Amino acid sequence: MSPEFSLFPEQASTIASKVDALYVFALAISAFFSLLIALVIFFFFIRFRRREAGEVGHQSHGSMVLEVVWSIVPLVITMVLFVWGAVIFIEMRTMPPDATEYFATAKQWMWKFQHPEGQREINHLHIPVNEKIKLTMTSEDVIHSFFVPAFRVKQDVLPGRYTTIWFEADKPGKYHLFCTEYCGSHHSQMIGSVTVMEADDYQAWLAGGAATAAAPKDLGEQLFEQYICNTCHYEDDSGRGPSLVGIYGKEAKFTDGTTRVRDDDYLRESIMMPAASVVEGYLQIMPTYQGQLSEVSLLQLISYIKSLGGSAGEEAAPPVVADASAGATADNTGESPNE
Ligand code: CUA
Repeated sequence: MSPEFSLFPEQASTIASKVDALYVFALAISAFFSLLIALVIFFFFIRFRRREAGEVGHQSHGSMVLEVVWSIVPLVITMVLFVWGAVIFIEMRTMPPDATEYFATAKQWMWKFQHPEGQREINHLHIPVNEKIKLTMTSEDVIHSFFVPAFRVKQDVLPGRYTTIWFEADKPGKYHLFCTEYCGSHHSQMIGSVTVMEADDYQAWLAGGAATAAAPKDLGEQLFEQYICNTCHYEDDSGRGPSLVGIYGKEAKFTDGTTRVRDDDYLRESIMMPAASVVEGYLQIMPTYQGQLSEVSLLQLISYIKSLGGSAGEEAAPPVVADASAGATADNTGESPNE
């Protein structure tokens, strides 16, 4: 690798060139006006210097043309910057429905990743090129921040909730990953890499560790049984708790009359603080699992609940596990619909 000097990090994602174009535009505007003002100041020094002792300056009482020009020109420039920036921001913040979900858990001082196929990594993430990757992230302790300069994406990672980010890497290679939120004495060492691989290489890499890897949703299913969630949450609504089949991404009504979409954050809250929102028609009898489940386990449980179906789009799988009545489709049973 040649250590070529470069003012900008490499562009390795679909959004990178767009972010840079906007940045260069803002930089050019700023440079142009800085230079213009400096030159005008210098010109006025000379043009309007005092030529003889006691000379008094000419008083100006304003100019409508000038007022209009220096109001309209900045307005147009700032509006261009605003609209251009907003378009890129919306693109960055809108999850594409066909993105593949990966998990990241940050802690002092490391990054833990889990692939949808089950592979786990620490401080290094391998992803396929030309594929939309969605990262669902949380922290086990303090605030961290996920930053890959080559992708031009950055997102804070917070304890107690999920944040997401997406990107599509378009150039194979190995890129820096930084934590960009001061998170304690070893913050500066909370670094890693993202390796972007051709689809074939990625499959080969995945296969390398496949013997031990179980998909997050399968591990979640084991946890569901281990923590005896299944003794209250049945496949239908006859249990002491509501059924979790097909609920993901759908709205529910609660005993306090409020409604809410049951997304990742809702599921997390319901496991950690079950009393916060109790589904209408049920009693608050669920114990809290705060302190019993790690963030990684929580993500696995949520993956499992997502795999039971719902309107989430990318994870929506036919509820193979749950649909006891569907005898006709029984030959699918046991096979993961995502593989
Ligand atoms: Cu984690 Cu800084």
